[in-house]
Amino acid sequence: GDGDENNDLELNFTAVAKSLSDTLTVPAGYTATALFRLGDPINAATPDYVNNGSESGASFASRAGDHHDGMHFFGMTAAGAYDRNASDRGLLVMNHENITQVFLHANGPTQVNNVRTVADEVIKEMNCHGVAVIEVNRAGTTYTYSKTSAYNRRITTSTEMTLTGPAAGSAFMKTKFSTDGAKTRGTVNNCANGYTPWGTYLTCEENWAGYFRRAAADNAARTTAEVTAFNRYGVPQGAGGSYNWASVVTTDPNDTTFSRWNASKLGASTDGTDDFRNVSNTFGWVVEIDPFNATSTPRKRTALGRMGHEGAWPAPAVAGRPLVYYMGDDSRGEYIYKFVSTANWDAADATGGLAAGDKYLNAGKMYVAKFAADGSGSWVELSFGVNGITSASTVYPFANAADVLVNIRLAADVVGATKMDRPEWAAVDPRNGNIYVTLTNNSVRGSTTQPLDAANPRYYADNKGATVQRGNNNGHIVRMAPSAGDHASLAFTWDVYLFGAQAHADAAANEADHQANVNLSGLTDSNDFSSPDGCWFSQATPGLLWLQTDDGAYTDVTNCMLLAALPGTVGDGATVSVVNKAAPQGAAGAPVDVTISTRVGKRMEAGTLKRFLVGPKGCELTGVAETPDGKAVFVQIQHPGEETTVAQLGAGTFQSTWPQGGSARPRSSTVVITRNDGGKVGLA
Ligand code: FEO
Ligand code: CA
Ligand code: CA
Ligand code: CA
Repeated sequence: GDGDENNDLELNFTAVAKSLSDTLTVPAGYTATALFRLGDPINAATPDYVNNGSESGASFASRAGDHHDGMHFFGMTAAGAYDRNASDRGLLVMNHENITQVFLHANGPTQVNNVRTVADEVIKEMNCHGVAVIEVNRAGTTYTYSKTSAYNRRITTSTEMTLTGPAAGSAFMKTKFSTDGAKTRGTVNNCANGYTPWGTYLTCEENWAGYFRRAAADNAARTTAEVTAFNRYGVPQGAGGSYNWASVVTTDPNDTTFSRWNASKLGASTDGTDDFRNVSNTFGWVVEIDPFNATSTPRKRTALGRMGHEGAWPAPAVAGRPLVYYMGDDSRGEYIYKFVSTANWDAADATGGLAAGDKYLNAGKMYVAKFAADGSGSWVELSFGVNGITSASTVYPFANAADVLVNIRLAADVVGATKMDRPEWAAVDPRNGNIYVTLTNNSVRGSTTQPLDAANPRYYADNKGATVQRGNNNGHIVRMAPSAGDHASLAFTWDVYLFGAQAHADAAANEADHQANVNLSGLTDSNDFSSPDGCWFSQATPGLLWLQTDDGAYTDVTNCMLLAALPGTVGDGATVSVVNKAAPQGAAGAPVDVTISTRVGKRMEAGTLKRFLVGPKGCELTGVAETPDGKAVFVQIQHPGEETTVAQLGAGTFQSTWPQGGSARPRSSTVVITRNDGGKVGLA
């Protein structure tokens, strides 16, 4: 492209101001409505949500879960078939990533010395995680969900799932629940998502490791390789485990509901079939769900590797060419990956359902990104027996192809991939194939283990209230152009599209805690932001990019937000020297200046990046989807009021009461945004 593709597009709304108020604000001429809120029922038998913590755990198998995240709109015909062009009726499929525990129970969680003493509270928390499928219908100028649709479905941490691909049935997957390693129970911490050309949904397991616990003495019972793998993925030892789910005391000797969260070696077997020592290997995957078949069993696709999966975003399907998925591993210093299918795309599979998934998503090659300082880059293959990924590796002794997929972070370590500033979402520009990846922030960038490089070029000191943060505080967005536009190519060029920053960051005289060379993209009050996370290229309006922010260094100034952007192309800016002026992580003494040369996209102008929405207190903006006609955009308001303590719950002083207001507890919610005149959202 020539960088001028956007001359015919215009963001014709008035930018929304930064805000710390407990409201959701969109531009004049738009309406935003909470469509599907924590606890909302998905069948006629389930009563409306009282929102005081009184509902049973089991009832949440028929209610909206918590912490709405990645989602996708699947258009549907009147007969109930997938129709990629249908906008009046569809299935909205969404993740429920996590919980704000305090609001789920009458008085917050009940526990004594890290032991959960009310099993039903734990059932409720497990059922509040996972995925929801709801039918939505256009009603007048906006949308409602159908409470009684036969397509409505909840998938939770207890739903049975089939393991597929090269790691299925391997020694890594055998548990007391599935002695042949063919299946597991549930999905957890489903962050972002993806979708397939055959109308199925991909949900991605991100911070799953923290839900498990291992006994402090477990290392002594394990092989050196196992300990290396546990440490690399952060499965905690000791009394930990998110929410202490494993701590529920049960008298059932065959319990597989609570005890499965304990990944310690407890049994006497040599193959792990008498305990849950291998259970954490069955999490960290991309999971395929057929929303059009409410009784189908979800399939975990091990060919796409095990990591802290943010999402899995497709390149456009091209007949006769492989399918390609881009994936971020969201943790500090982790990598960007892609999967390239063995099978070449055949449009006859567009109605193939999960069988098409078996064809395209169970066999292929994994690659990891390496960014060079000169603006070039390469995808490095991660297969058993190549690039040093062998049993002789000093990083980790890989046993076989299944081992490489289960421990793909270690394989990426072997090849020296580029450690990134927390890779979150990816999006492919439908005009030119440029791949955008949000790098949300990284508090340890600039440390000896994660030194600056051209693709991760910033550290500096930044105040958030009274707290001084160091590292890459506000994040950035990297973009890549695949060689010759071929997504299967192993070469690319890249630049940094956009750096997050406060508009006034460079005016050192205004704010003593900020310094020059931070606002590198020329942001102003109408578009400054921190910590990019969700991103989505409109398919209805090629060239329109939506960006969302997560709690970062800026929530002392504004709540999180949604922005609309009209980006150009890789290489449309200039080479700049980023002058970093702060003490590196962990270093004592005077600040050390480090200058990094990198390529930055053209500076923002008012017309190319505008703030579209600001959320209520304590939330982050997650998931974004649109109807095929571009006239409705769906976003998630995740964890409003999340900083509320148990004491504040008792006092009725919540950080947020959105969306109900008054004295109500806050609720994560799907919001539908439409234009009052019925036009496309965001554009002239
Ligand atoms: Fe769940 Fe990386 O955000
Ligand atoms: Ca995210
Ligand atoms: Ca995030
Ligand atoms: Ca969050």
